[in-house]
Amino acid sequence: MFIDDLPTPCLLIERRRLEANLARMQATAEAQGVALRPHVKTHKSVRLARWQRERGARGLTVATVDEAEVFVAAGFEDVRLAYPVVGAERHARLQRLADRARISFCVDTVAGAEAASAAWAGAGRRADVLVEIDVGHGRTGVPWHHADAEVLARRVAALPGLCLAGILTHEGQAYHGPVHDAEDEAGALRRVARETVGRMLDVAVGWRAAGVPGVEPGAFALSIGSTPSMAGFENAGRDGFRITEIRPGNYVFNDATQVGLGSARWADCALTVLATVISKRRDPTGRERFFLDAGKKVLTADGGYGTDGYGRLLYNARTMTPLPHARLTALSEEHGWGVVPGGAPFDVGDRVRIVPNHACVTVHTQDEVYLVDGDTVIEALPVDARGRRRISGRGGE
Ligand SMILES: Cc1ncc(COP(=O)(O)O)c(C=O)c1O
Repeated sequence: MFIDDLPTPCLLIERRRLEANLARMQATAEAQGVALRPHVKTHKSVRLARWQRERGARGLTVATVDEAEVFVAAGFEDVRLAYPVVGAERHARLQRLADRARISFCVDTVAGAEAASAAWAGAGRRADVLVEIDVGHGRTGVPWHHADAEVLARRVAALPGLCLAGILTHEGQAYHGPVHDAEDEAGALRRVARETVGRMLDVAVGWRAAGVPGVEPGAFALSIGSTPSMAGFENAGRDGFRITEIRPGNYVFNDATQVGLGSARWADCALTVLATVISKRRDPTGRERFFLDAGKKVLTADGGYGTDGYGRLLYNARTMTPLPHARLTALSEEHGWGVVPGGAPFDVGDRVRIVPNHACVTVHTQDEVYLVDGDTVIEALPVDARGRRRISGRGGE
């Protein structure tokens, strides 16, 4: 089968680019002496997670219990929820998974830790828990410099049913782009990576000095992860502590945001949306407008640092040549609207490829994606862990 035979819009994954991305991040992990525990929210694919494992990944990261259920059912034995788990229903489902796999999760509040303790101790079980730390992103996690972090760690260490296994952060501020006018992208990514490592070490070293139980080099996890910050990651240690694992997700595909941030090149972008040109005309100002059959429902409305419009247009669909001046300026649900100054080198019925702004949410729009090599379709990969949020028939229970 060839990509011309596929219905559009659909998602293509270039096998060689994917392979190169997997190998590059695995090499980074090995060079820095950390485990690569990839975040599977990007691809939600059992096949892809197996390829990551075959290349050396140790354990998986997930964001949701739904994802955990899919990957444990597929035989993955070490699954970390990089998310504060709150709610008795979630804990009950995780406990069922803990019969078959090593399950760990995050807490970032005393209330969340106490509820987790009640759930796990109440069931006569013990869970590995990581305290989520905020190293500057401003999302969940206790700020690294705040006394509340140590208070929470002591509480987790003392609560029945919980074992304080480490600290975890997502340095999502790497997505904000350079903050100083004079700083270039590469410099900004190195700074975020350096700050992330330093702040995680501050926490671990500080807790150990303060006598928080279980905080010992070697036995205590220091988990960081985002794709852009990995471009500047150096595993500096202090007092015996080092970062123990990295959890990037997006790196398997990359996207227009990673290119905007300077953490990937267009040639590293493995995921594209294949779309058909459905209409073309001149607008009253004389500019040529074109319309694609790919709108918000596949490209999503996400932007990202350094992106321009709703993805980068490549032409033609086979050679993946970037089309320098084409812009996807607007989206409605099923339409992508674009302009090409000077005229579009494609006609109604032609196919184009688009590197999306945000690969992870783009994948989540599809039931399957197509692994391709040039214009040959190798196989369809199911997006196994999407669309599972229903209460009937969950996991065969
Ligand atoms: C908690 C957590 N860990 C790891 C990641 C992976 O980061 P990236 O998508 O930049 O690879 C994310 C991304 O959202 C995250 O939220």
